[in-house]
Amino acid sequence: MKTASTVAALRKARARLKGTLGFVPTMGALHEGHLTLMRRSVRENGHTVASIFVNPRQFGPSEDLAKYPRTLKEDLKLCREAGVDLVFTPDADVMYPDGFDTFVEVERLSRPLCGEFRPGHFRGVATVVCKLFNIVQPSRAYFGQKDAQQVLVLARMVEDLNMPLKVVTCPTVREKDGLAMSSRNRYLSPSERERALVISRILAEVKRQFDKGERDVGHLVSIMESALGAEMDEVQYAEIRRLADLTEFPGPIDAPALAAVAGYVGTTRLIDNVTLTPSRGRNA
Ligand code: PAF
Repeated sequence: MKTASTVAALRKARARLKGTLGFVPTMGALHEGHLTLMRRSVRENGHTVASIFVNPRQFGPSEDLAKYPRTLKEDLKLCREAGVDLVFTPDADVMYPDGFDTFVEVERLSRPLCGEFRPGHFRGVATVVCKLFNIVQPSRAYFGQKDAQQVLVLARMVEDLNMPLKVVTCPTVREKDGLAMSSRNRYLSPSERERALVISRILAEVKRQFDKGERDVGHLVSIMESALGAEMDEVQYAEIRRLADLTEFPGPIDAPALAAVAGYVGTTRLIDNVTLTPSRGRNA
């Protein structure tokens, strides 16, 4: 496995990788969720590139950029074991040199849900991923459904800007007890982790009720809000929106939907979601 920390070095190493190229962009602090994306990319492509870059442009001024976990040595070992061929590890001044002044904004999809609570977040994500796609030039890029809104934003960007690659969405990877895997889970104390389980538990309950025929958004949202409110320190949102474009349902759920939650347990922000589709057995 090779590593490159400049654009020129990445391009030189990437040019030697012939055939289809899978790409897994990450911010490091890798866990089984990332490794699942990498293994799938390795299976589906001739070669796989990963990137490890904690992107300052997607963190707000009061967010956890400074304390975001950085575990590069261990991450590189995990990438190698997963079968990755090349890892891009740029510093911030490589991605954003002096004078940097161009941003990508996916307007409508970036507004609701996390966009409401993290102004500028998806602009930062779309900008860095656009740059990474231009640098790496992958055939396919792999993302987890846990960041459902991020995937929608990036798929829209790829479509709108005619980028020649496919966005592949992979199911959320969960701990045995249901907690969605996240680099931020390591901030949780044992008691906070216990309380955080309410998120996956109530999303599973919403899905159960939906599968039994419940279509009333107000009812499903109210069961989420009361369960989450009892355990979380702050519930930012608990919403059900159309899966295709994140718009609201004016009446009963009549199309594939996303039930999505975000909020704080202690000082840790957690997000999770499930998809609600009429066919059984398809969970995020
Ligand atoms: O999902 C993430 O880890 C980040 O948002 C991404 C896609 C690597 C962009 O910085």
